[in-house]
Amino acid sequence: MTTYHDKTEATSDDAIKFAYWVPNVSGGLVISNIEQRTGWDIDYNRKLAQIAEASGFDYALTQVRFTAGYGAEFQHESVSFSHALLAATEKLEVIAAILPGPWNPALAAKQIATIHHLTHGRIAVNIVSGWFRGEFAAIGESWLDHDERYRRSEEFIRALKGIWTEDRFTFRGDFYQFDNYSLKPKPLDPHPEIFQGGSSRAARDMASRVSDWYLTNGNTPEEIAKQVDDIRAKAARNDHEVKIGVNAFAIARETEHEARAVLAEIIAKANPEAVNAFGHEVKNAGKASPEGQGNWAKSTFEDLVQYNDGFRSNLIGTPHQIAERILDLKRAGADLILLGFLHFQEEVEYFGKHVIPLVRELEAAEPLPIAAE
Ligand SMILES: Cc1cc2nc3c(=O)[nH]c(=O)nc-3n(C[C@H](O)[C@H](O)[C@H](O)COP(=O)(O)O)c2cc1C
Repeated sequence: MTTYHDKTEATSDDAIKFAYWVPNVSGGLVISNIEQRTGWDIDYNRKLAQIAEASGFDYALTQVRFTAGYGAEFQHESVSFSHALLAATEKLEVIAAILPGPWNPALAAKQIATIHHLTHGRIAVNIVSGWFRGEFAAIGESWLDHDERYRRSEEFIRALKGIWTEDRFTFRGDFYQFDNYSLKPKPLDPHPEIFQGGSSRAARDMASRVSDWYLTNGNTPEEIAKQVDDIRAKAARNDHEVKIGVNAFAIARETEHEARAVLAEIIAKANPEAVNAFGHEVKNAGKASPEGQGNWAKSTFEDLVQYNDGFRSNLIGTPHQIAERILDLKRAGADLILLGFLHFQEEVEYFGKHVIPLVRELEAAEPLPIAAE
């Protein structure tokens, strides 16, 4: 496999990281009938992971889904799929999505610790808190209110960290209890990174206390900066550090006109019933979030065509325009860009060849201060 740019081999800690969404569920990342040359099967995904690591991507993020809805008819399980991708690659880190409820922390801690050993430390986790009530009903999981879901996720993360770092771990939570529990073997040191997804106040508060990474829906640099400032101020008070990842749906083409035409076609071919039903579901899921600032609180029909508001980050245009906008997101405080594409294999390769090197050049030309504290 060709490596397109040696610069990424030696990226500094300050260099922005790149992740891609693993298409381990069918239907791609837009709710549209536009042609998507993206497969959800393991052969497609193994090759994609190999292309991604040769193209300068640092991470791959899997998705956890138990049932269909708004497309996504088939869904491979996230932890086992992550392991298969790790086995097919050499340096890519794969983030396995984990949903408290179906998973309990004892199983997750043990399962992930073992994969950490098997892969020499390349597995991470994304603790998600759930948005799909119908999915919970289908598998017999009780549906907690929004902030209760986050309270459970925070206990889950505290339990993971405790199990991974302490002997005779004892924990008395409302959702989970441990009594003198010693996991052996522990994961390698440092333990797997802990990501989380969500944008509500509860999500931000949790990130400022326990998570290593906060992943949020796509947005403008101005709106991302507001979230970053809020989280970092709270984290400082908690003596905690958290990094920020921002979702984006990238459409990189030789001309801006071409890229905009692709976006227009995605929207024109969107399936309105599915988009509206998805919008209804996600807005409802956030309702119990009292301040109404969660993911999708302000999403328009157009935004919702991409599951995580990825058009809002505006990585749509020429490689140069996209690289400049990535730098704007970095200035707003982003440490990582999480990317979705229409035709994953082709576009991950194109992105690695044409966009990432420009980002590295811009970063080198303009050393950036660490995001505003
Ligand atoms: C980057 C990212 C990835 C996510 N991945 C999943 C997933 O795989 N499965 C899932 O059920 N929810 C996933 N979520 C949904 C979140 O866990 C959360 O339920 C949702 O963003 C609403 O949170 P909020 O009300 O705090 O904004 C993801 C969210 C983000 C931002």
